[in-house]
Amino acid sequence: MMNSLSSTTGNPISSIKSRIKTPLSIYNKLQRLGYDFTEQNIKEQLNDVAGIRVICSFIDDIYIMAKLLSDQDDITVLRIKDYIQNPKDNGYRSYHMIVEIPVFFAEGKTPMRAEIQIRTIAMDFWASLEHQLRYKKDLGSNEQYKLISRELYDCACTITAVDKQMQNIKNLFEEYSELTPR
Ligand code: GTP
Ligand code: MG
Repeated sequence: MMNSLSSTTGNPISSIKSRIKTPLSIYNKLQRLGYDFTEQNIKEQLNDVAGIRVICSFIDDIYIMAKLLSDQDDITVLRIKDYIQNPKDNGYRSYHMIVEIPVFFAEGKTPMRAEIQIRTIAMDFWASLEHQLRYKKDLGSNEQYKLISRELYDCACTITAVDKQMQNIKNLFEEYSELTPR
């Protein structure tokens, strides 16, 4: 049945961002992990040379996307971290998948790992700003920093509440349009 909501219920993807790690950033990460900068170490030690971020409108869409991806028969799921069920202590939420996908070259295809992050628009908003402000910066642990951390955590809670409320509104809308077919 078509209704005015089919656009919101149809596509679980709001937008997609992708990035390839720069050679310098690959080098730095291998250094940090204690490995030499070799092709083999890049392939075997790093999961996030290719990064894909799938931004969804609603929380339920995240799990729909995760299932769609893991049901693809050319995608092998190597690891899942559900920071939505288990948020990080700082308030970070997202659904992470490490996957292996075949990449096609002139010489043939080779499996490559990629990190997929699936999150709502609101989670992405929080994570982008938090990253900008803090991520991987060593800012110590003085009182001012504790205050900043508490404020960021507080924002994450507010955002989660809004995400849940939006999901609830969507569910109510769907119920409503089932009750009043047009
Ligand atoms: P690396 O962080 O890549 O060393 O691997 P990991 O094993 O810690 O993976 P994890 O799944 O925890 O995080 C991978 C990526 O998720 C990071 O590179 C960030 O892009 C993102 N991420 C994880 N934690 C945070 C966080 O606290 N804040 C923000 N803004 N992003 C985060
Ligand atoms: Mg990390």
